[in-house]
Amino acid sequence: MDYKKDFPILVKNKEISYLDSGATTQRPKCVLDKIEEYYNNSNANPHRGTYSLSVKSTEMYENARKRIAKFINARFPEEIIFSKNASESLNLIAYSYGLDNVKKDDEIVISIMEHHSNLVPWQYVAKKTGAKLNYMYINDKYELSKEEIENKITEKTKIVGITHISNVLGTINNVKEIIKYAHKKGAIVVVDASQSIPHMQIDVQDLNADFLVFSAHKMFGPLGLGILYGKREILNKMSPFIMGGDMIEYVYEQDTTFAPLPNKFEAGTQNVGGVIGLSAAMDYIENIGYENIEKIEKELIGYAREELAKLDFLELYMTPNKENHSAVISFNIKGVHPHDVASMLDLDGVCIRSGNHCAQPLLKYMGLDSTCRASFSIYNTKEDVDKLVQGLKKVYNMFEKYLSN
Ligand code: ALA
Repeated sequence: MDYKKDFPILVKNKEISYLDSGATTQRPKCVLDKIEEYYNNSNANPHRGTYSLSVKSTEMYENARKRIAKFINARFPEEIIFSKNASESLNLIAYSYGLDNVKKDDEIVISIMEHHSNLVPWQYVAKKTGAKLNYMYINDKYELSKEEIENKITEKTKIVGITHISNVLGTINNVKEIIKYAHKKGAIVVVDASQSIPHMQIDVQDLNADFLVFSAHKMFGPLGLGILYGKREILNKMSPFIMGGDMIEYVYEQDTTFAPLPNKFEAGTQNVGGVIGLSAAMDYIENIGYENIEKIEKELIGYAREELAKLDFLELYMTPNKENHSAVISFNIKGVHPHDVASMLDLDGVCIRSGNHCAQPLLKYMGLDSTCRASFSIYNTKEDVDKLVQGLKKVYNMFEKYLSN
């Protein structure tokens, strides 16, 4: 099945092999159409007007919330909070839950493979409260071992922050087991599903996650929209994060009472077009089916792993366990800076990311400054992998004489 044809940017730029979906996916026409349709026919500020256009916009916004709740199997629509991106969702949790519930000498545990978004906010909470920030480190297979998890999460742990899939390594963490263990110790768990939800079904009730965040733009939706899922009983007890319009019940000169969920956490005019677009992206995913997505991507990643492993000038940073590896592959050409590799691949139309991938502590732990990263989606094909491999050979051939000196 050719999914490239669903994506106008890929149809228009046939020479491009887009291998940076971990940074942002492209959007299919059906999503772009839905966003345009909303602005053409239904745009008005929801929750504010009594005229029919605003009522229609409110209905579309709230129906999309229900649709998104169903997509991740949340119990209640008000457990879905809209934000600007996954980072803002994580900041909301850190500020509104972390600062109020973590005390001096408590522990916050995160993995070394966290994106800065699920790391820096916890450093802040630890510094403000006097809590300790502890890390679960990866083993030589780029995985978190059961022993490491059980050594680090203790009775003192109040919050565990864990990425479902590493945006650098592609390692899939067993978040269900981590959550189970953390709950036994009395901690709540924050799951960063930004890199997993484009590739696998997320069921927040099955995971029993307390909080789970992701962003629309990594799953074929628009930029500028983040999702925060939180258990209703926890969200209800939390203070608002951003203050302003539409999140209040009543404002007095010196005091304010706040609106119930979800409005309490949605101050100011929201990205309604984005929410409509995400809902359409979820329709797109469901029409293909996660089973199909997993099947296609498994074959593609398997092929990429094999072909890249044939290049002896490459250092590959991925788990040997295929079953535990998602759609991200990081690598380096020994002795060549990743930015040079990425710039040269670009000349052949291969788009990869290079740098520290907003995961500096992980790279430092691995003894690196930066890597090249190819990340895949359903619109990628084996030809894209071949182009990457050819491109890498070309780069190596060009640099070889300097490397052997
Ligand atoms: N978090 C995104 C990435 O890993 C931007 O590239």
